[in-house]
Amino acid sequence: MELKKKILCIGAGYVGGPTMAMIAFKCPDNQVTVVDINPDKIAQWNSDRLPIFEPGLDAIVKAVRGKNLFFSTDIERGIRENDIIFVSVNTPTKNFGAGSGMAADLQYWEKTARQIVEHSKSAKIIIEKSTLPVKTAQAMERILKVNSRTDRFEVLSNPEFLAEGSAVRDLESPDRILIGSHRTPEGLKAQEALVEIYAQWVPRDRILTCDIWSSELSKLVSNAFLAQRISSINAISKLCEKTGADVTQVAKAVGMDHRIGNRFLNASVGFGGSCFQKDILNLVYLCRNYGLDEVADYWEGVVKINNHQKERFVLNMLNAMFNTLAGKKICIFGFAFKADTGDTRESPAIFISKRLLEERAELIISDPKALENAKVDLSGIDQRVNYIEDPYEAASGTHAVAVLTEWDLFKTLDFEKIFNSMVRPAFIFDGRNILDHQALFQIGFNVYPVGKPALTHF
Ligand code: NAD
Ligand code: UGA
Repeated sequence: MELKKKILCIGAGYVGGPTMAMIAFKCPDNQVTVVDINPDKIAQWNSDRLPIFEPGLDAIVKAVRGKNLFFSTDIERGIRENDIIFVSVNTPTKNFGAGSGMAADLQYWEKTARQIVEHSKSAKIIIEKSTLPVKTAQAMERILKVNSRTDRFEVLSNPEFLAEGSAVRDLESPDRILIGSHRTPEGLKAQEALVEIYAQWVPRDRILTCDIWSSELSKLVSNAFLAQRISSINAISKLCEKTGADVTQVAKAVGMDHRIGNRFLNASVGFGGSCFQKDILNLVYLCRNYGLDEVADYWEGVVKINNHQKERFVLNMLNAMFNTLAGKKICIFGFAFKADTGDTRESPAIFISKRLLEERAELIISDPKALENAKVDLSGIDQRVNYIEDPYEAASGTHAVAVLTEWDLFKTLDFEKIFNSMVRPAFIFDGRNILDHQALFQIGFNVYPVGKPALTHF
């Protein structure tokens, strides 16, 4: 069989790995190669133990790896031999110099652009898969064109909307695929080449095309809107706790208006993950750059409420447990930033654990997939931290349990058994509102949900 398209992806992370596996799986007559500067990561992608946990991903990778999906460290060869190049390197928040703490750090991105120019021998379509500030494509084009002999590069924006934990489902059946291109004959031709790839499994009416700047901005705005819903409901959760209202009831009533919708309205310890905060700060930085301070302040509020929600959770614990946590043992149920992933980047659990340690508590952390990452996140301050996967063993002998990730497994535990192994009075802080609070109260726990009245025996 003749291979139709030769596709390269630079960056084998949470986005590069799964998206390329799906393209290879759905387009058997295309050849897909994923490259990365990190040899350990590539070795893991080539092994039985993939570098990320994502439900359903193992089966897809196994089905196509070695057939039309390849993982390699040979970036130069990858650039030379492929015509379509996705760039999916990390774009973290800058932590130095101008824009520190706000702007996107584009050093990995620019290095990739320079590498592409250096090693390309033929025309290429370059696709921004990473999330980037608006007008990054322009910077990329300048680097590409200034250094090359011809206009051999066409840059497209194709942001990724998958969520971790449901990446395979999201990639298999996306709400939309967004492709931004220059509205020139060359731009439109490159756009059509990318549309053809996705159209092999995504209905055409879900493939949206537009100009590059709208595409880049839509990605930042999508994440900002999603995060804004969580901060909105979390802000209301505080008011519920003061007034005796129940945030779940409020979210249900509000969400039944189909103009609002019922998803993404779960009050929590705050949102985490590598992208929401980074992308909003990026948006805020962009607005400030254009002198739009009111707009910037508005979006910055989403991050402020999120930080407040995490801090408030710790203060609630402190307050409930007689204003001292020093020497007390606290069991953390869940360290991942959400269920069904081992990823802990920007997880609220990191902030909350550090704050509890500042209060001189002792921590026992339990998580089915994230303990290795948790150890890295808390390295250097781990003298009062233990990591125990078994939740019963982890909770035994502790004064309190704090649920920080909504893993299904926590919903079905035998809490009577847990209560019997804990120090009295026993506390449970449900930062995800996933447990049966009345049942816990009946067992004897003092129960503190988010955005609902506490159930206490005092
Ligand atoms: P990641 O850190 O998991 O992966 C990035 C990979 O790029 C790393 O393996 C790194 O080694 C590699 N890399 C960096 N510089 C390189 C270079 N010069 N050459 C080759 N490889 C290089 O990051 P991620 O979570 O996959 O995110 C990638 C981008 O996608 C970010 O812009 C992010 O905002 C965006 N995004 C992420 C998600 C998500 O769920 N994680 C979803 C949508 C969009
Ligand atoms: C998010 C977006 O959902 C994706 O569309 C986007 O592609 C991705 O960011 C990205 O750009 O990286 P992700 O961060 O993987 O995906 O996971 P989400 O399901 O969005 O959850 C983010 C955080 O919000 C988690 O900590 C989650 O627990 C929290 N959350 C979510 C709530 O606290 N309440 C909710 O109702 C929903």
